[in-house]
Amino acid sequence: MRRTHTCGELNSKSVNKEVVLQGWVSKVRKMGAMNFIDLRDQYGITQLIIKDSIEVKTEYVIEVEGKVIKRKSINNNISTGEIEVEVMKITIINKSELTPFEIKDDVQTSDDTRMKYRYLDIRRPSITNNLILRSKMNNVIRNYFVKNNFIEIETPIFGKSTPEGARDFLVPSRVNKHHFYALPQSPQLYKQLFMIGGIDRYFQIVKCFRDEDLRIDRQPEFTQLDMEMSFAKKEDVMEVIEELLIEILNEVKGVKLTKGFKQISWDEAIDKYGIDKPDLRFGLEIKTITEMFKNTEIPLFTKLDKKVIRAISVDELVGKKELEKLTETAKQNGTNILGFAKFDNNTWSGSIGGKLNESEKDGLVKTFGIKKSSTILFVVDEYYKASKVMGALRNEVAKLYNLADSTKFELLWVVDFPLYEYSEEDKRFVAAHHPFTMPREEYLETFDKDMVNAKAAAYDIVMNGFEIGGGSQRITDKDIQSRMFKSVGLSEQQVKNNFGWFVDAYNYGAPYHAGLALGLDRIIMILTGAENIRDVIAFPKNSSGIDMMNNSPSKVDESQLNELNIKLK
Ligand code: AMO
Repeated sequence: MRRTHTCGELNSKSVNKEVVLQGWVSKVRKMGAMNFIDLRDQYGITQLIIKDSIEVKTEYVIEVEGKVIKRKSINNNISTGEIEVEVMKITIINKSELTPFEIKDDVQTSDDTRMKYRYLDIRRPSITNNLILRSKMNNVIRNYFVKNNFIEIETPIFGKSTPEGARDFLVPSRVNKHHFYALPQSPQLYKQLFMIGGIDRYFQIVKCFRDEDLRIDRQPEFTQLDMEMSFAKKEDVMEVIEELLIEILNEVKGVKLTKGFKQISWDEAIDKYGIDKPDLRFGLEIKTITEMFKNTEIPLFTKLDKKVIRAISVDELVGKKELEKLTETAKQNGTNILGFAKFDNNTWSGSIGGKLNESEKDGLVKTFGIKKSSTILFVVDEYYKASKVMGALRNEVAKLYNLADSTKFELLWVVDFPLYEYSEEDKRFVAAHHPFTMPREEYLETFDKDMVNAKAAAYDIVMNGFEIGGGSQRITDKDIQSRMFKSVGLSEQQVKNNFGWFVDAYNYGAPYHAGLALGLDRIIMILTGAENIRDVIAFPKNSSGIDMMNNSPSKVDESQLNELNIKLK
């Protein structure tokens, strides 16, 4: 290579060296007869000093030859801040037009413009660094699994539908007219077949595809670390994953965690935090306080029927603007009325606070351990609905008052998930994780008769309020598997057509096995503090699933459709 150093490499030890640098012009400044250039590459920025007049503009790609000298005014913010390069020769390698936005971290442009010119966006150090950290994480993962005797095996992208709960993306087959492949929502079925195939420990860093509504932590194509272990129970998988996450956090962030992450049941998560992926960086525990108000005269709390009163206490006197925001959050989550009671200087006020009797006041102070000015927020609804609203309010309060420390990483396992959830859309029970998940042992007799209460041998790993992974013990018993399918409304014929190829494999000797998949995009999003999953994906889709750079999805040639025998109405 012609260059002798990168733009992030030179320091005071390099003084007097003759060097060749190549990179992009990040800034040009003129001071009297002198010209200063900030030269940028992936590794950093080096200041150049040029005595002659120059014909370069920002984002030109140049090469310079020169000598490293000590800088007069040191810049402690960059690694090359003690030196500059006195340029003897400058060569323009490639010119650039004026870029649609300035290449710098606090860029003032719309997300869609950034995505349209994503290759320019990637030049910005914050995006470059996200990609570098991702690569580092993948490296840690591969080393870890190889060290622990796992082997990486690729699975097909053109496959058959896997029931992970989202819609499939379909790919038409030209050779087999009117037939479609489904892109994998995960390699779930393949990895179970590896276990039957005698592979002891499998892992893969793999793309998955799900046609679902996008959110800040969701993309239609995303990357999983997928793994499965034979002769393994849930505890074995959890141990392997804890050790992996400890290594990732240490290597990528220098954060030290210890083994034995907190574990709470799904029931407890909903009860205390209203959500199955609680952010434990802050408290704000939810309490059910229906009993306290059994003799009340407060209109909102009377005639409860099957409803309950759930509440949280905020260590702040919540202002009018904040209350409006919180009421809006409550509404978005299905409850129109948000009651509140403010406690300040031993007096109560607010929609509920103004109506409390003495025993209710006492009850609240004791239940929430109130010692200073506080605001209690109340929701009245059926238990799970009230929990959902409270879960959202808890997160919103944390946002409003900056309660979540961005330098902290709180990991926990949520276990004992319900085996089923009721789908309002389909008016039937569906598998909460996927239908290959083993019921917990104590529910083996009853799971398909008492579906509301059945619990699964499934576990999620949660970090800072995001579900970063999930897995389960798998069903390896044919009888349990067929009861499971039947209970979610799949007929024998449907099972045969869709999963026959898979279920039959369990006729030929299967070890018990368990596994899990981590969402790698989400993990790196949290570790880098990115506000959206898009910022850690090289070429992401926008919130409508469009790649702004190449405008996909796009219409295709009619001749292509004809070949596939597809007619668009
Ligand atoms: P699950 O469906 O829980 O489990 O997915 C595992 C993890 O993948 C991440 N994830 C996503 N990330 C970004 N965009 C999405 N659209 C998206 N969907 C999911 C989440 C999630 O926790 N086969 C099972 C695993 C198993 O049972 O072994 C599975 O895919 O972080």
